[in-house]
Amino acid sequence: MDLLEKIKSNASKLNKRIVLPEGVEPRTLQAASIILKEKIARVILLGAQDEIDAKVKELGVDVSAAEIVDPKTDSRRDKYAGMMVEIRKKKGLTKDEALTLLNDPLYFGPMMIKAGDADGELAGAINATGDVLRPAFQFVKTLPGVSVVSGAFLMFVDKKFGHDGVLVFADCAVMPDPDAAQLAEIAITSAQTAKSIVGLEPRVAMLSFSTMGSAKHPLVDKVLEATKIAKEKAPDLMLDGELQLDAAIIKEVGELKAPGSPVAGKANVLVFPGLEAGNIGYKLVQRLAGAEAIGPVLQGMAAPINDLSRGCSVNDIVNMVAVTANQAQ
Ligand code: ACO
Repeated sequence: MDLLEKIKSNASKLNKRIVLPEGVEPRTLQAASIILKEKIARVILLGAQDEIDAKVKELGVDVSAAEIVDPKTDSRRDKYAGMMVEIRKKKGLTKDEALTLLNDPLYFGPMMIKAGDADGELAGAINATGDVLRPAFQFVKTLPGVSVVSGAFLMFVDKKFGHDGVLVFADCAVMPDPDAAQLAEIAITSAQTAKSIVGLEPRVAMLSFSTMGSAKHPLVDKVLEATKIAKEKAPDLMLDGELQLDAAIIKEVGELKAPGSPVAGKANVLVFPGLEAGNIGYKLVQRLAGAEAIGPVLQGMAAPINDLSRGCSVNDIVNMVAVTANQAQ
């Protein structure tokens, strides 16, 4: 069974409740019908019943097994607003402001998770990353001991690379310009994602345009410093840097440029030095090399909330719901 099938089959066993705030969006509804038919997860669609009904009829899909919740009229609004005021009391959020925020499904979804009424969320088919993430950052927050949420992609490439053709790329979605400490945290949480979702033994490469001191530049120093911090925080983790991409994934180049490195030439987790490199890098591999890219899988959040690229397909949504359900276990 390939990895995707394993992720879906495990999701089915978990039977988690995944909230889809973009409940009237056509790809989301098509994906919901597949998810329900294949019993990958239970689905909660957010939106007005009549609007969802009209779109379902137009598309000819069956989402009758989904729970439909209208954020504007739901009976839990008052309770959620109270919770929001409590969470943001230092920021001075008022109940009226909270009730207004709850009209937005991107706020209602995370509050369902916070209240224990859903297990995970997936959105972003029609909303920008920042709009999906901000409510999650504000109300769901990070895991204990984690200060930075980042986004990983599971990349499916030629079997000669990574772990049988699977690599984890991060951060490709969230932190525009991480400092060394944040980059170290991204490396550690990416290794955890690789372990828990892909089931691989992580070998983490801290990427740069330099390998083991071949170039001198403040940007290289940042990656070196991040490597040092990550090694101190996770001494058992197989992690090395700074490495160029070829030294990280090609055995011969790794042996030449970084002899003795436990990671060079066989990395399966690639940590990019910043979001420009990470976001452009994963899209290059996806579009030019034809790799399947699943993600961004958000890591470090206290509950599984994931974002989609607005260019996502129905299949991408189905796959990401399965990943979200796996994260919720
Ligand atoms: N991890 C945890 N919390 C965070 C993070 C993070 N990475 N970033 C911000 N926060 C928190 C802040 O601490 C703050 O919390 P507070 O309100 O309790 O004090 C809250 O989130 C809002 O912080 P801001 O700095 O005001 O956040 P802002 O909204 O400006 O930016 C955002 C956050 C939206 C994630 C921003 O960093 C961003 O736009 N990143 C790029 C996203 C993107 O466009 N990615 C590329 C597309 S994705 C793709 O192609 C698949």
